[in-house]
Amino acid sequence: MSEQSAPLGVDFAKDRAPAVEPVRGQGGQRAYFSAWEMHAYYGESYIVQGVSFDIREGEILALLGRNGAGKTSTLRAVARLESPQLTHGEIWLDHKPLHEMRAHEASRAGLALVPEDRRIIPGLTVEENLRLAQISAPHGWSFERIYESFPRLGERRWQEGVTLSGGEQQMLAIARALAQDIKLLLLDEPYEGLAPVIVQEIERILEDIKKLGITTVIVEQNAIAALHLADRAIILDMGQVVFDGTAQEVIDNEELRQQYLAL
Ligand SMILES: Nc1ncnc2c1ncn2[C@@H]1O[C@H](COP(=O)(O)OP(=O)(O)O)[C@@H](O)[C@H]1O
Ligand SMILES: [Mg+2]
Repeated sequence: MSEQSAPLGVDFAKDRAPAVEPVRGQGGQRAYFSAWEMHAYYGESYIVQGVSFDIREGEILALLGRNGAGKTSTLRAVARLESPQLTHGEIWLDHKPLHEMRAHEASRAGLALVPEDRRIIPGLTVEENLRLAQISAPHGWSFERIYESFPRLGERRWQEGVTLSGGEQQMLAIARALAQDIKLLLLDEPYEGLAPVIVQEIERILEDIKKLGITTVIVEQNAIAALHLADRAIILDMGQVVFDGTAQEVIDNEELRQQYLAL
């Protein structure tokens, strides 16, 4: 940590003075996204233990670590879901203090989490699932644009979302995020449980998203696939950041991969 990143954490429990956006990163510029000293609990279980990281606009960050390292919990804390409960820390997205917001407010501020289980709404068609995403949030991509990028969804737009294949449901979950005007996309294991040929298709979609400059965090067990897509990587272990650097550094460092990623 540099001198610029002096702790400015807000301790909600103690109800301290309002936060001031921290200045750090190269040349003292504010990062597009920054999480600072996040601590979060499931009830009494202390899981996210002082996690900090920055992301520049348009960057793809791979969030890696073994099963149970705290990746999903970190994404959930950033998305301001009820659990785990964030008890300390600051989260800033494009100058907006997410740590002061609840999940629906964070979503309106431009944050989209695509959870591992995809949460396709039963009883609704593909298009209704997309439309629902736009109800409370500012609109992002039009249906036309979505169907151009995801032709399979266009072919199935009137089909019930939950009847799609696993890969198509993953595409719908990503498309639903893009149907909102987002600033940061959080993807929790987008390749999970998918056949290799479908993984390749999702990878192509993520490459396209990368070209569009959408700032993204990708959590993956399939670390190599995520590292090829990502610019930078952080590795979590037992709820703490144990590595923060470029994706290439992780690819090149066998010891690091063996220790924390079992690769
Ligand atoms: N709802 C929960 N209640 C209590 N503990 C949980 C809950 N969800 C996850 N945990 C625990 O938090 C730790 C981190 O889990 P998680 O964030 O899901 O890890 P990862 O996504 O890296 O596999 C694990 O020890 C897990 O058992
Ligand atoms: Mg997880």
